[in-house]
Amino acid sequence: MSGLTTTRAPFIEEAQAHGELYIHQPYELYSDANHEAWRQLYHRMEDRWQRYANPRFLEGIGSLCLDPTRVPRLDDVNKFLSPLTGFKAKAVSGYVPSFMFFDCLRNREFPTTITIRDAGMLDYLPEPDIFHDIAGHVPMHTDKAFADVLVRFGEVARSAADHVQGIKDQHQRVVKVESILKAMARFFWFTIEFGLMREKPGSKNIKVYGSGLLSSYGEIEHSITSPEVQRFPLQLEWVINQYFEIDHYQPLLFIADSFEEVFELVNTLERWLREGKLDNVSGGEPGINEADLASFLNADLSTK
Ligand SMILES: [Fe+2]
Repeated sequence: MSGLTTTRAPFIEEAQAHGELYIHQPYELYSDANHEAWRQLYHRMEDRWQRYANPRFLEGIGSLCLDPTRVPRLDDVNKFLSPLTGFKAKAVSGYVPSFMFFDCLRNREFPTTITIRDAGMLDYLPEPDIFHDIAGHVPMHTDKAFADVLVRFGEVARSAADHVQGIKDQHQRVVKVESILKAMARFFWFTIEFGLMREKPGSKNIKVYGSGLLSSYGEIEHSITSPEVQRFPLQLEWVINQYFEIDHYQPLLFIADSFEEVFELVNTLERWLREGKLDNVSGGEPGINEADLASFLNADLSTK
């Protein structure tokens, strides 16, 4: 039985075929192998989290009361999460185009994958899974300062859609939305997904708060201990112009002092957006996904 295994889940295929993006979590469909994958993933991370994770993450793991042996039910997660910051994990059938993804954050909803990777290939991750989303992202959402960063970032996505929809020339509009999207994706990547932070401002001790690292057994340690990784203080002008690749360990990471600092940088990002400074960021990543582009160009800004 394939259960709800990444890339092999009939329930997900059906939802996608019907164009259903927001779905429920059919908990009874998880197979024993799915629960076993969760158990192994969680078990091997525990020691690494204690060593390398940001203290807010460790508090978050505690507050969520996740069962280390079973795939979590989103409803249970939300019972502990919502009272803390208003955030909720919301089940999705697959990729959420970026404007919609960021707009969910603005509404304190986190699009969450419900499938889990194959128990026989724990390190192979063709796409995000529930371990990445619930064990890597959601514990951070219990922290007020971090949650506020996500919401603020969602607001910037709206400003971005508003900014590009105001550009009359069609070609210019596409060129600029590509550039702005790149800048936003890079910011998200180097903070929310792969961010490092000093234990205290000025301290030499570095911890991990980025979810891509927090859900990776190999890379969490590599990010902190490997002499090959370049680690520099977080700088917005650098980050928005920095190309990245997703298919290997990150060779370059940025260190923030606090979530308040990251929040301030999101404010600056929005100011630069309005001033047109994000309209021409440096090239790099090949071809922006069509669905992402369209999501910004056609964003409905009349809704709340
Ligand atoms: Fe992620």
